[in-house]
Amino acid sequence: MPHDAGAAVPCDVKDLTLAEVGKRRAESTFQAMPVLQTIRKRFIKTQPLAGVRIAACLQVTAESANLMITLRDGGASVVLCASNSLSTQDDVAATLARDYQIPVFAIKGESNEVYHSHIASALAHQPHITMDDGADLVNALHTRRQDLLSGVIGGTEETTTGVIRLRAMVRDGVLRYPIVAINDAQTKHLFGNRYGTGQSAIDGILRATNILMAGLTFVVCGYGWCGRGVATRARGMGAGVIVTEVDPIKALEALMDGCRVMPMGEAAAIGDVFVTVTGGKAVIGKEHFEKMRNGAILANAGHFNGEIDIEALGKLAGARHKTREFVEEFVLRDGRKLNLLGEGRPINLAAGEGHPASVMDLSFANQALSVEFMTKNHASLDKLVYGVPEELDKQVARMKLESMGVRIDRLTLDQERYLTSWSEGT
Ligand code: ADE
Repeated sequence: MPHDAGAAVPCDVKDLTLAEVGKRRAESTFQAMPVLQTIRKRFIKTQPLAGVRIAACLQVTAESANLMITLRDGGASVVLCASNSLSTQDDVAATLARDYQIPVFAIKGESNEVYHSHIASALAHQPHITMDDGADLVNALHTRRQDLLSGVIGGTEETTTGVIRLRAMVRDGVLRYPIVAINDAQTKHLFGNRYGTGQSAIDGILRATNILMAGLTFVVCGYGWCGRGVATRARGMGAGVIVTEVDPIKALEALMDGCRVMPMGEAAAIGDVFVTVTGGKAVIGKEHFEKMRNGAILANAGHFNGEIDIEALGKLAGARHKTREFVEEFVLRDGRKLNLLGEGRPINLAAGEGHPASVMDLSFANQALSVEFMTKNHASLDKLVYGVPEELDKQVARMKLESMGVRIDRLTLDQERYLTSWSEGT
C-alpha cells in the first residue's frame, strides 16, 4: 500500500503540502452541512460505529471529507478512494490524510490503471462496510477480491447508476451482502439529483465554456430526476429546452413541463448544447454527430463517460485539440467543429465542484444514518438491495427543515383519524 512520508497513514495523494488549503475548504464546507454536523455530534457521544472498518469509494470532495470525518468520529476506521478520476479535489485528499489520519487514495487526473490500484488499496483495509458511488468497490470485491467477501456485513450505494448495477447483481443471484440504496431515499433523489445535478451540471458547462444560455437550444437526453433538474434550470436561464427520452411517461411529463420532445435523430440537427443524463451508453453517436451544427457543445452529467460515443466522434474527426481547459474541439472532415466537455465525464465534477454542500448534506446524512442502520441490523438482512428506511428519510428532512428555521404543521388527532379511516367522508 503506498505511503507518503508526510502523513501518518498510508495514502496516495497529489501533494500533502496542499493540506492547509484543503483543511480550510473542508471546514468552511461543513458550515453548509448542518444535518451532518448534528449527526456527527451524536456520533461523537454514542460511538455507534466503534470497531467498524469502512472502505469508501466516492467523489473526493470537501463534502465527502466531512462524511469521512463524521464516520471516523462515530468510531469507524475509514479509508477513501476516488469513484471518478477527474473529480478529486487534491487539497481535500491531502488534508484528510495529513490532518485527520484518514487514508486516502485519489489523485485528480489519475490513469485508469492508478484508479483501479487505488480501489485495491482501499479494499486492502478489509472493510466490514463498503460505501460506493457507482458500485466499483462492490464490483472489485465480487470479481478480484472474493477472499474478502466473508468479512463484509453490508454496504451503501450513492447513485442511480450504482443502484442499477446492484439490482442486476441481485437479479442474477450474485450479490453477496446487503446494500442500502441511498439514491432511493426521497431526501436523496428529489434533491441531490434534481437540484444538485440540475444546478451543478449547468455550472460545470458555464465554467468550462462561459457561454450565454439565453436563446440557446439546449437538448437534455433523459428525463429522470437529474434530467428534470437540468431542463428546469436551463429553461430558467432563457434556453429553449428539447428533451429526448425512451420512456413514454417521462416523455409525456417533459412535454407537459413545457419542453419540446423529439427523437435524438431530430434534436441532433437543431441543438446548440447537448447534455446526457440517461445512465445508458452511446446515447449520442455517429449518426447524431453527422447531423450536428458547427460549434455544438457536448456534455455528460450521467455517472459514466460512455453516454457520448467519444470513440465514434474521434473517428469522424480529422483533428482534435484543446481550446480551453475542459473543452476539446473535434474538427470533422467537412470542417464542422464539435466541442466535447470534460472528456465526457460528469461535467459538474470535472469542470465544477459537484453538487453544493447544502444538498450533499442530505445525501451524506442518509449515508451516515444508513451505515449506522447497517451496523445494527445487518444480521437480519438478506443479500439484497434495500431502500433507506422511511423513518430515517423523514428524519433527514425534519433535521434539514429545522436547520433552516422552517416549521411545519402537524395533523390533529381528528384529522389523523379521518385520514386513516374508510367510513368517514362518503
Ligand atoms: N456527487 C456530486 N456532487 C458531489 C460532491 N460535491 N461531493 C461528493 N459527491 C458528489
